[in-house]
Amino acid sequence: MNFKHQTISRWPRIALWLVLLLLPTLALALAEVKPHAAGIASANKQATEAGFEILAQGGNAFDAAVAVSAALAVVEPESSGLGGGGFFLLHRASDGKAVFVDAREKAPLAASRDMYLDAEGNAQRALSVNGALAAGIPGLPAGLVLVAERYGKLPLKQSLAPAIRLARKGYIWSAKNSAMIGFRTEQLAKSEGAAALFLRKGKPPAKGDRVFNQDIARVLERIASEGHRGFYDGKTARTLVEGVKAAGGIWSLDDLAQYQAVEREPLRFQFQGEEILTSPPPSSGGVALVGLFQILSGYPLAEFDRVQRLHVEIEAMRRVYRDRAIYLGDPDFVQVPMQMLLSPYYAAGLRASIHTRKATPSDALPGISAGPEGSDTSHFSIIDSEGNIAAVTQSVNLPFGAAFVVPGTGFVLNNEMDDFSVKPGVPNAFGLIGDDANAIEPGKRPLSSMTPTILLGKDRAAAIGSPGGSRIITMVFLGLSKVLAGSSAAEAVSAPRVHHQYQPDSVSVEPGALSEAEINALTERGYTVAPAERPWGNMQVVIWNKQDGSVDAASDPRWEGVGGGESRDREMIFR
Ligand code: DON
Repeated sequence: MNFKHQTISRWPRIALWLVLLLLPTLALALAEVKPHAAGIASANKQATEAGFEILAQGGNAFDAAVAVSAALAVVEPESSGLGGGGFFLLHRASDGKAVFVDAREKAPLAASRDMYLDAEGNAQRALSVNGALAAGIPGLPAGLVLVAERYGKLPLKQSLAPAIRLARKGYIWSAKNSAMIGFRTEQLAKSEGAAALFLRKGKPPAKGDRVFNQDIARVLERIASEGHRGFYDGKTARTLVEGVKAAGGIWSLDDLAQYQAVEREPLRFQFQGEEILTSPPPSSGGVALVGLFQILSGYPLAEFDRVQRLHVEIEAMRRVYRDRAIYLGDPDFVQVPMQMLLSPYYAAGLRASIHTRKATPSDALPGISAGPEGSDTSHFSIIDSEGNIAAVTQSVNLPFGAAFVVPGTGFVLNNEMDDFSVKPGVPNAFGLIGDDANAIEPGKRPLSSMTPTILLGKDRAAAIGSPGGSRIITMVFLGLSKVLAGSSAAEAVSAPRVHHQYQPDSVSVEPGALSEAEINALTERGYTVAPAERPWGNMQVVIWNKQDGSVDAASDPRWEGVGGGESRDREMIFR
């Protein structure tokens, strides 16, 4: 017998075991094929083009994200822009660093809890939705600068150039621009700056018109040459504060001087052995997404028929939206019980409260007692040929935000103040309710549903997100479930949508999403099914198949012809 191995000292033996244990992971890492192409999916082809232009100049996915974000600010003013905010979820390939850049708007320092209540304590929703008083302090410009400076390879000036060109030389007014301005023409006409920017003799541009915006070009140029200060200090800041005050708003120069975008740790969780990165507070989306997947992980979903699967999904949605209403708010102001909300034991408790076949009325769950549609805001997804990933959702809230433009600035201000709970239990524009955690406080960020999310799977990586107000979270959940099940980007973005948000206690269903038999089966279980008149969302997905290096990008077909979801190989990019 050979006892030679016994003479091997302990440490080399441990090292040997470690190598053996790590071998499969190592093999997997080696097997990973870098993307052969880059993929960008955004809500507008002109913005996607801006991103590819920056990749062709040697930029990475994060430079391209700055370019796409700024281009959307020009060509999609109804959805997002310099007067709004956003979340950038980034994953860097070289060292695996993941970061969530929070460029969400903040309440002005002069804001107060009851600022939208009248003398009788009734919510005056018009004030939190229209005009200068509805606007939070913008965060997107700070986000652009931070992402470019800390994560990009190119100077900010270079990444902003395509957006500046679109503003100076004109962009094409799309079917989506047209549809959205239809909702807000009357309100835009009341703002001198907005009317000058978007209306000619009271009428919006027609689809296909070339639209110019020299004012926003000048603001972008100031950001390009001076960085953060180019927006939050000096001429732009002074013009904004004067214009907002003149229109009854409460901004001060201090508000702008103090605004900073912040880096936060993304939420990380596993589902079916796949790693997912998503959005932490002040987004409510990530916490809700973790809850949804954790509740559902306790069910044998593959054995369920469609109705049974819908039943447990809807019940899970109801419960995570209830938690959203009660617990979630800006983590810089309120203590969000993250440990509890993210715990699998907590999810197991919620799961145990789900009846196997019957709907739980929302009012039967202890909580808060208590919307309209929305397909605004903008999400884009990018994966570059190094494997860097950006998932970005940005917003001005409702179409054209507060429908208010400070003359000479070239961009609408957001009405993100409406995302606060203006009064406990009173629904906002998305029918969402909230309580103290999301009450207005000076300098606080309103709770958001924007949920940019990244899948870092063994075989596939993906970036996903969508606009849609309160429905964003359930859309990302349904879309990501598709991607996890192996669907293509096109299948994930076009999958039919079903939504429940605790209050109102009804299941929203996209036209054609469920058969009559399925609707009847849900009704029998005690659900109020509310078929929607129109579809919702504008999902943008990019998937990288790590086994063959292929990249697959798709835009939501619900805005057919407007979105730009495309993957291009190196030859095409550098052509
Ligand atoms: O941050 C939020 O949750 C909302 N301001 C998003 C608004 C939105 O998606 C509008 N689109 N329907």
